[in-house]
Amino acid sequence: MWKGRFSQDTDEAVQKFTQSLDMDWRMALADIRGSIAHVRMLGHTGLLSEEEASVIEKNLCLIAEEVRNGALVPKVSLEDVHMNIESRLIELCGPTGAKLHMGRSRNDQANTTVRLWLRKELLDIWDGLNDLISSLLKKAEEHAETVVPGYTHLQQAQPISMGQFWMAHAHAFLRDAKRLFDAYDAVDESPLGCGALAGSTLPLDREFTCNDLGFSSVTGNSMDTVAHRDHFMDVLYFAAVFGGHVSRLSEDLIIYFSTEFGWVKLPDSFCTGSSIMPQKKNPDVLEILRGKAGQLNGALMDLLTMTKGIPLTYNRDLQDDKRSLLRTIDCLHGIFSVLPALIREVAVDEEAANRGFRDGLILATDVAEYLVLQGVPFRNAHEKVGRIVRHCLDNDKPLTSLTLQEWQDNIPEVKGDLIPLLSPKRSMERRDTLGGTSPAQVKLQIENISLRLMMFDKEAKEFRERIPEGY
Ligand code: ARG
Repeated sequence: MWKGRFSQDTDEAVQKFTQSLDMDWRMALADIRGSIAHVRMLGHTGLLSEEEASVIEKNLCLIAEEVRNGALVPKVSLEDVHMNIESRLIELCGPTGAKLHMGRSRNDQANTTVRLWLRKELLDIWDGLNDLISSLLKKAEEHAETVVPGYTHLQQAQPISMGQFWMAHAHAFLRDAKRLFDAYDAVDESPLGCGALAGSTLPLDREFTCNDLGFSSVTGNSMDTVAHRDHFMDVLYFAAVFGGHVSRLSEDLIIYFSTEFGWVKLPDSFCTGSSIMPQKKNPDVLEILRGKAGQLNGALMDLLTMTKGIPLTYNRDLQDDKRSLLRTIDCLHGIFSVLPALIREVAVDEEAANRGFRDGLILATDVAEYLVLQGVPFRNAHEKVGRIVRHCLDNDKPLTSLTLQEWQDNIPEVKGDLIPLLSPKRSMERRDTLGGTSPAQVKLQIENISLRLMMFDKEAKEFRERIPEGY
């Protein structure tokens, strides 16, 4: 392409080293669609005759077909998807094809191509996230009345509804959805017409290509546009935070699934065995999911580090931006291919979960709060109950086995109405503050999150409708 200026062919190792086909060939259809918009604009502004514009568009459609059926095999010597498509076009329609690249640089072209490709990927990722959150909502509904231990410091803390547990994860993923949609907004801008860095002397119509490609707006500064990758960072940041949430959910389930906890049941189809220990049933899927955070964080660090200190504007370092992006997108698709289905299959053994309540100490806060309602200052109540806890531990007695007499010997403010409150189920049901763990509150959360999920999905549908056909 630059044979005019050069007297030597590019070294073969250099060709291999500098190519980006291994990343951008999968965006070939998006690239062609971007070129079609460019050609339509050139026709619209009179830079191409109607005849020329239509010849180029027809041949680009032909090339799209060749890409789809695998007939067009890209050449590494042509460096990237953009030059491979353009070169094929020139092969097909000669001097007319050679007019395609007027008013355009690969700097704004590559930028456009990735954005076009990425918009669709992000909407597919939304579908996965929607599926995941929906599976959590369903589980929460199923388990709204199921009482299990809640932990802080991985020590038994207070009884909770298993529905509250699922909803805790659903809330985290819903915040991820917000970040995903913010990233989509950042991606959904049209760079086409920025040229190499400074715009063009030709009378390009950027609004035209923007509308033809269904972008929400044109970018504001040609130099900034070809130089920055903030929109990728937004995507990678969403993914990194999401990866942390996936990791935590996986770890929770791995712990509850362990022999020692033993109250979460995973189906055989989501576990694997051991090559030596016949008894083993390992939560490998969850472990792999837990580890994915590493790749997702790594991709974000990769791009943040790579872009630091690059001067304005386009520099070839930026070509590798796609590597971290693709790794992340593929990793996310992998997560969504198993996690929602796994959640749907998880069962909870409430009886096994409740075995952990045998000493009754998980109800200690309930007693302290009971005393507060009898007029005891909380700090005194805490101490009184602390002493009872020690009494129970010293005498190996469950808190729930104490008689009214024993209670009153230690804490005179206790009355008969305390005794019926001392069950994990009652305890869970009575935590009825907004956002709390009572089944009523869990159901309220399910309603709220379902509504917000529907609103996000409606927005995603509107985005999808704005994406043009043909790629
Ligand atoms: N293959 C390059 C990329 O993916 C295209 C842009 C090349 N621009 C340049 N000035 N060499 O970013």
